[in-house]
Amino acid sequence: MLQKIPEPTSPISPVRQISVRKLGINPNYWYVVARSSEVTSQPLGVTIWHQAIALYRDSTGKVHALEDRCPHRQVKLSHGQVIGDELECAYHGWRFHSSGECAAVPYLAANQKLPNCQIRRYPVKEQDGFIWLFPSDVEPSVEPMGLPEWEHLNYIATVSVINTQAHYSYLIENLMDMYHGHLHQDLQAWAEASLQNIDEDENSVNAHYTAQSYYKIDKIWSISQLFFPALRRLHSEPLDVSYVYPHWVSTLGKDFKIYCLLCPVHETQTKAYLIHFTSLNAFWRLHKLPIWFRRFIKDSLFGAAQKLLDGLVIQDVKMIEEEQQAYLQNPEIRNYELNRALVIVQKLMKNQVEKSGLLVSKAAEDV
Ligand code: FES
Ligand SMILES: [Fe+2]
Repeated sequence: MLQKIPEPTSPISPVRQISVRKLGINPNYWYVVARSSEVTSQPLGVTIWHQAIALYRDSTGKVHALEDRCPHRQVKLSHGQVIGDELECAYHGWRFHSSGECAAVPYLAANQKLPNCQIRRYPVKEQDGFIWLFPSDVEPSVEPMGLPEWEHLNYIATVSVINTQAHYSYLIENLMDMYHGHLHQDLQAWAEASLQNIDEDENSVNAHYTAQSYYKIDKIWSISQLFFPALRRLHSEPLDVSYVYPHWVSTLGKDFKIYCLLCPVHETQTKAYLIHFTSLNAFWRLHKLPIWFRRFIKDSLFGAAQKLLDGLVIQDVKMIEEEQQAYLQNPEIRNYELNRALVIVQKLMKNQVEKSGLLVSKAAEDV
């Protein structure tokens, strides 16, 4: 449940006082709750920061998001089915418009009126292969971050899903601290990161590193470097990582771009989608070929970096969950943090929650 930040009784705001590991989210942004392909006319239940939501497509293919709670007996509407453009509850068959109003009760007597019940609807958009949801109760004033490379013919996409039993701050800090290339040595994602500088504004932190990259995608066959380690050659590249609240984006040289789109579930669970793009920009000859052929190449190579990406996720999730467990067992123990990017990232998270005027969960009260 969302709750208002209490009026300050001391000069230090309540957000400043709580641990970043118990921090809520700023709901006034678009979060990613599903892949487009996951949402069909069969309702899908998802959760964004304690809020259970039923996603479904109507007969025209449009995606809707309703509170996942039947007002009749409080069961999940996502167990039901879509009839025409209405969502029907599995239990007694009440139906709901996409606006959240009750549309029909199958056993309504002639002398009875439709119950005047209304469930919450959420602003939702389908864009760049994902379902973006705005979990606030104010109307959106910003746009989803978007992934221009998703449809672009010059980029090959790979998607890996992160499902971790940890607060979202652990995931963001993992993604912003490129010194953890140490963990992934066997997967050869990058090496020898060195933080050069950081710039920040109200909504983002951009950390600029240099690093050694194993891949150089300058010939069409170089994509096979993703599969065959013997073909890889270390060379220096800029490595930029940005926390663009509430998501993360990174570029390694000109060849790779990675996004992490977040869906924080609650204080100790985070879902996220990691999307890796390999650029084909260097192949000018390829760009002269017919569009259908370029589309065929893009689609055929979808998932080219799957093994690498899934491997990275497994290793990261293990560390992140250990950090979470250690915190839960001994919340008073402080880390020895040397990377100043992480200090700035934590400050941004707190600023965002403070700006939203909302604290989330009772957990935030027992600091
Ligand atoms: S609980 Fe949903 S129709 Fe009865
Ligand atoms: Fe990692």
